[in-house]
Amino acid sequence: MADLLGDARSGPWQILPGVHRLAGFTAAAALMPEIDRVAAAAPFRFMVTPGGQPMSAAMTNCGPLGWVSDRAGYRYGPTDPETGRPWPAMPAPLAALARTAAAVAGFPGFDPDACLINRYAVGARMGAHQDRDERDFGQPIVSVSLGLPAVFAMYGPKRGGRATPIPVADGDVVVFGGPARRNYHAVRAIKPGHHPVTGPYRFNVTFRKAG
Ligand code: SIN
Ligand code: FE2
Repeated sequence: MADLLGDARSGPWQILPGVHRLAGFTAAAALMPEIDRVAAAAPFRFMVTPGGQPMSAAMTNCGPLGWVSDRAGYRYGPTDPETGRPWPAMPAPLAALARTAAAVAGFPGFDPDACLINRYAVGARMGAHQDRDERDFGQPIVSVSLGLPAVFAMYGPKRGGRATPIPVADGDVVVFGGPARRNYHAVRAIKPGHHPVTGPYRFNVTFRKAG
């Protein structure tokens, strides 16, 4: 197994140092029922940026910690601010998928405590940002794409510069960590389309070790 993981680390899935794309690692058909269950307890909502602008992707969370943005800033917290209740539990199949993907990409022992679910309608996008609200940058980010395709743009650790476009289709998992952990990244506007499972949406499920 160690050899296999060693090969994967430097193998054809590595797009940039520390950035891996596992193409077709899962599928919306397998995961959407879990996401629907989470959304039934903690509905998708448009959070606002600290500046007060609604985000273009709708979001919810599952797991012990959820990521939230509002006028007070960005943070992780144990409860859904909309209901005051704990975020729904992280479904076991989702957690298992994240652990396996991280291990295959060369990050064994990943144990996510936060799972942010983004829902992008056609035209929705995400501007360049770093994931930096987590405590331990030694832990990777595991990002699962479902439904409509997108372009995930990977920059370097400083704002600006040229991005490497990473096309992501249904079931693709991008794992970034190590030298890429603090890279800026963005999602280009979703193009019109229809996916047999998700219809007019792209979902992205991002696993983090936040606390
Ligand atoms: C994110 O950076 O939180 C979202 C990435 C994505 O939607 O692919
Ligand atoms: Fe991010």
